[in-house]
This record gives sequence, structure tokens and C-alpha cells, in this order.
Amino acid sequence: MSTKSQLATNPNQALWEKGDFTRIASTMRESGDALIDSLDISGGVDVLDLGSGDGTTAVPAAQRGANVLGVDIAGNLVEAGNTRAAGLGLSNLRFQQGDATNLAELDDDSFDLVVSIFGAMFAPRPFDVAKEVVRVTRPGGRIVMGNWIPNDPTLVAQILKISSSYSPPPPDGFVSPMTWGVESEVVERFTAAGVPDGQISFERDTYTFNYPGTPSEFLGEFRAYYGPTMNAYDAAAKNGREDDLHSELDTLFNAHNDNGDGTTSISASFLRVTVTT
Ligand SMILES: C[S@@+](CC[C@H](N)C(=O)[O-])C[C@H]1O[C@@H](n2cnc3c(N)ncnc32)[C@H](O)[C@@H]1O
Repeated sequence: MSTKSQLATNPNQALWEKGDFTRIASTMRESGDALIDSLDISGGVDVLDLGSGDGTTAVPAAQRGANVLGVDIAGNLVEAGNTRAAGLGLSNLRFQQGDATNLAELDDDSFDLVVSIFGAMFAPRPFDVAKEVVRVTRPGGRIVMGNWIPNDPTLVAQILKISSSYSPPPPDGFVSPMTWGVESEVVERFTAAGVPDGQISFERDTYTFNYPGTPSEFLGEFRAYYGPTMNAYDAAAKNGREDDLHSELDTLFNAHNDNGDGTTSISASFLRVTVTT
């Protein structure tokens, strides 16, 4: 199911294949590693990384001995993930293309742990996503999601907020990915999938982006390679507002940088969701 010819028919796939998310992912590796560390993964457990990209969390999970499958809607990221796995000699890690809203290729009760860090939140039809994630998780297993939080003052929520103010209104029925950052919405989705609400917990967590250039150069990576930002620049350009968008984002990136030496380190908050099945 993995050809670029599907681009025109699946806008979600087109959005993520448009750029090259590996350019952003490479700035998130330390946080991916720390997140996996916090999950105490033991050797031999079966892990699904959903919306895996090129393996920011899938790679460290495999390095700790888990059998890991990364599933992502973007063919270019699946390919990049498999190239990384081969380069690292990780025979217990593979990536395949798939859609979080319908994981028909995966059997019920297949995984001890499903991880989705800023991944499944971007799929449409969140109730289908919750149902599928619960279906493929074994009884007694865990689901861990990382979701950006609407109106949060930190970097990514602000990039998405600023970008949407330069973009055309979404189509009728569109459910914002940011609603995955609202606890009551998450509870509604997982309880509809059959999970008692006492088995759903939340905490605030942080991811840090580390980039070897300036914040303005880091913004350049988003502008050139991050699908949602690329689309926002395209939409702004159509209205002659590209410079305004750029200036708002440039101010944002520079204001959030913690380094003073010409490099970039920006931390962003997210909602960490843990579901036990
Ligand atoms: C912000 S990136 C995060 C990637 C990775 N989890 C990481 O932390 O580096 C979002 C990822 O979700 C994937 N994605 C978006 N919609 C999806 C869907 N419906 N099914 C599977 N993956 C999806 C994108 O292709 C992209 O790789």
C-alpha cells in the first residue's frame, strides 16, 4: 500500500510526504531516547510505534531489546526508518506503511506496548484511531501517547497556532489534531474504545529540540521540510502574507531558544497519555 501515487487521494499522507520530517526528527533524538528510557522496556517485548517517522522512539526501543514495528503513513519516512535500522544493525526493528485509522494488517492483541509520540494525533478520525490502538494492544499492555497541547505557550503548539491563522479554514467535520492534547477528549476516545477511565492517566512532559545552527536557521528547516509549516507558507504566499508569517515564526523561535552561542535548544511541553489495557 505504499506508493507515492496515493498522494492525491490521501491528504494526510500527502502532508507528511511533502517535506522530509527526518530533518526535524534528527533534532529530537535525545528526547526520544529519554522517553523510551522512562518506559522501562525489557528485552523481547513487542512494541508498535505508530506514526513512527524514521524511528525517534522506535530505534531506542529496539536498542533496549524490544521487537519493534514502526508504522507510518509516509512512504519516505518508512524508507528512512528501514535505512536507519539496517545501518544500526537492528534486525529486531522494521518499518512498514500504514494508517493509524485502520490497522487492518495488524492482528488483535499483537503488542505489549504501543507508543505514539506526536504521531497518531495527526491522523483524522480520532475515535477510529483509539479503537485500533486498543484492538492491537494485548490485555495487560500499555499505550503511551505524546500529544501537543492546544494554546500551550511552548514552541510546537505555537507554530501550529500561528500557521493555522495564515491557512484557509479547515473543511467541515475536520477535527483538530490538537484535541488529542485535551484530557477530556482523550478520555472520551479511549472509553469509547472500551477502556475504563480509571486506566487512563496524564502527565505533562517535555521534548527538547537541539539544532547545531541558530533559531532562524532552525526555522528554515521547518519552512523547507516540515509539511504543516510548508503548507502554511504556501497559503500565506497566496495572500501576500508570507513575510508576516515568517516574521512571527522567527520571533517565536528566537524567543524560545535557551542557548546563547549561535546554536539552538528549545523545549516544548506535551501531554503524555498512558492507557493500560
Ligand atoms: C510529527 S511526526 C512524528 C514522528 C515520530 N513519532 C517522531 O517522534 O519523530 C508525525 C508522524 O505521524 C505520521 N502520521 C500522520 N498521520 C498518520 C496516520 N494517519 N497514520 C500513521 N502515521 C501518521 C507522519 O507521517 C509523521 O511521521
